[in-house]
Amino acid sequence: MIILDQENRLFTLHTANTTYQIKADRYNVLLHTYYGPRLDNCDLSGLIQSGDRSFSPNPSEAGSSRNYSLDVVPQEYSTCGVGDFRLPSIELELPNGSHTADLRYTGYRLRPGKYSLPELPAFYGIQGEAETLVISLEDAAAQVSVELYYGVFEVFDLITRAVRVINRGEETVRLCWCASLCLDFLRSDMDMITFNGHHLMERCLDRGQLRSGIQSVGSVRGASSHQHNPFVMLCDHDADEDSGVCYGAMLLYSGNFEAAVECGQYESSRLIMGIHPYHFCWTLAPGEAFTAPEAAMICSDNGFGQMSRQYHQAIRGHLLRDPYGGRRKPVLVNNWEATYFDFTADKLVSIAREAAALGIELFVMDDGWFGSRNDDNSGLGDWQVNREKLPGGLEALVPRIKALRMKFGIWMEPEMVNEDSNLYRTHPDWVLHVPGRLPARGRGQLVLDFSRKDVRDYIYEQMRAVLDSADIAYIKWDMNRSLTDVWSAALPAQRQGEVYHRYVLGVYDLLERLHRDYPDILIEGCCGGGGRFDGGMLYYTPQIWCSDDTDAIDRLRIQYGTSFCYPVCTMGAHVSVVPNEQNGRVTPLKARGITAMSGAFGYEMDLGKCTAAEKEEIRCQVETYKARYELLHCGDYYRLSSPFQDSAYTAWEQVSPDRRETLVNVVLGCTHAAPPFRTLRLKGLNPALQYRIDGTGPLHSGEILMQAGYPLPQILGDYASFQFHLEAIE
Ligand code: DGJ
Repeated sequence: MIILDQENRLFTLHTANTTYQIKADRYNVLLHTYYGPRLDNCDLSGLIQSGDRSFSPNPSEAGSSRNYSLDVVPQEYSTCGVGDFRLPSIELELPNGSHTADLRYTGYRLRPGKYSLPELPAFYGIQGEAETLVISLEDAAAQVSVELYYGVFEVFDLITRAVRVINRGEETVRLCWCASLCLDFLRSDMDMITFNGHHLMERCLDRGQLRSGIQSVGSVRGASSHQHNPFVMLCDHDADEDSGVCYGAMLLYSGNFEAAVECGQYESSRLIMGIHPYHFCWTLAPGEAFTAPEAAMICSDNGFGQMSRQYHQAIRGHLLRDPYGGRRKPVLVNNWEATYFDFTADKLVSIAREAAALGIELFVMDDGWFGSRNDDNSGLGDWQVNREKLPGGLEALVPRIKALRMKFGIWMEPEMVNEDSNLYRTHPDWVLHVPGRLPARGRGQLVLDFSRKDVRDYIYEQMRAVLDSADIAYIKWDMNRSLTDVWSAALPAQRQGEVYHRYVLGVYDLLERLHRDYPDILIEGCCGGGGRFDGGMLYYTPQIWCSDDTDAIDRLRIQYGTSFCYPVCTMGAHVSVVPNEQNGRVTPLKARGITAMSGAFGYEMDLGKCTAAEKEEIRCQVETYKARYELLHCGDYYRLSSPFQDSAYTAWEQVSPDRRETLVNVVLGCTHAAPPFRTLRLKGLNPALQYRIDGTGPLHSGEILMQAGYPLPQILGDYASFQFHLEAIE
């Protein structure tokens, strides 16, 4: 609910459990007065104290008063070079060469439903689900307007933000920095939590106290990256899964980003999030506008668990555009780890046949089916079937897969090209490269200039030819290197600072065309695993391959970190062989199954090589996943332990919305002789109900299961695991 107090120029955004408040003050400066647990009927601007602070300048409107400074007051969208020395939200280069921005309130618009953004991903919601507030600011001297967009989704405690900058003058201005979110706090006694890692180990949680100065994470790799995720949190020092105030901020963007927190001189702090300023400079000709990507905030005063569950629900219901809607998505088998590049049509069909017999429903043909692609040094860009490998092409292969009553999916890496390809030989100028320099290779490949429409059009036509040649139900859209040598032959020198962002817009454009022209195809995002796992991609690809590391124990960490923002249904997760291909670890099939089931589930192995007992276990896993799909994918997610803190076991739970059913998942660590006797305290149950475990045995009270716990079975051997289904009995 958005409440306007016109007389006091006060905007109060209420969600079910939180309040966010903004006020235009006497100098038309837009103040941020509060964000936190819900407070009704109040003007919180009284919390903002002022006083004379040396070296904090006073705006000229303040006259001789020294008690007001932009350097001290909490601002809704911070300015630049005119008195606030903390992190700016915007930096303009004006025609006279000045780098200043001074924004003052000019008005607002309010409307039902959620705003959308041109060419960019955004949460969606109709009237009754969301409301939109637009606050207008203006820099009178620069003749630039800034519109701050707010989307309020009451039930999920979700507040989205976006920013539009419009050049209303008659001269060109340049935008050097444009944050999507600025969030000022009158406190700095908080922890910052970020999700970091590398290829094969993404989104590991890191927590540390805020300290003086600026602390930040970000990416200048052209993708949101394996290294830092565009989701960060701030929280009370003692906040945990179930208690304390915490704030989440997620950027719906798949390219360079920065999330920075600055602790100010008077124990305040400011979070800024947006496109990374590295090599970003956008030219705005008279009348032109720039839209910064959306950011989405959730505050919880019941710890991280509640915040995550709110994000999960909001993302599932108002960000994903899943062709399956509420229907169950198929269990898949992917041939990558089974064959790598070395396969024939018969080999693929044999993997599919074994999988179909175990209840698997979608066969995905991974890399290596096109051009001269027999290893990773050639072929990218030539999206025609390699008929030596697959005689008869997809026209022959797909019906053989469909005859097994399976759907067919295909891998593509549209943004890339190998020098050893017909595409590169014909259009060497289509790659990102700086004239006079030889571009760096990554995985032996170069990056196509997706900022160019002609390049995208060509690739799209190639993709269409493939998609129209057979009945294709799924695409895995991969991206296997970071961007370097970012320069576009299609733009003049003064616009080269636009290429990184135009590249991302180009990726979104092609994905949107696919979504429009092939609405029934499920697209799984991938970037060498989880190098582009962000809310921007999720708008186009409702699931993303979580990591190239398929080891169940490493995955516990990766999926744990990912779960802080992103729901289980978005995390591509497969059972693979042991010893694991990435780290050589041997884990039981059961632990691999339980771990992957809390994800978009599948297998990544040649099931024909399994023993009869393993096949039977896999058949049961697939059956369990199908039977528990609703609970696994749409249940409320509870983290019961952290794989970063507790090596003895990792446990998590999915609870049905009515709290009558839950699935408890536990994977133990390395085995020890005479292990301690442990109990596991469950969460999210109804204390008044009695639950039966796996349909047999005695009843257990919800209250006891949550307060006292349930004894963990004692099993010998490394990485033993359990999955219990609890159902309330009337
Ligand atoms: C990286 C992906 O993450 C893998 O799953 C696989 O698709 C390879 N690329 C193929 O080159």
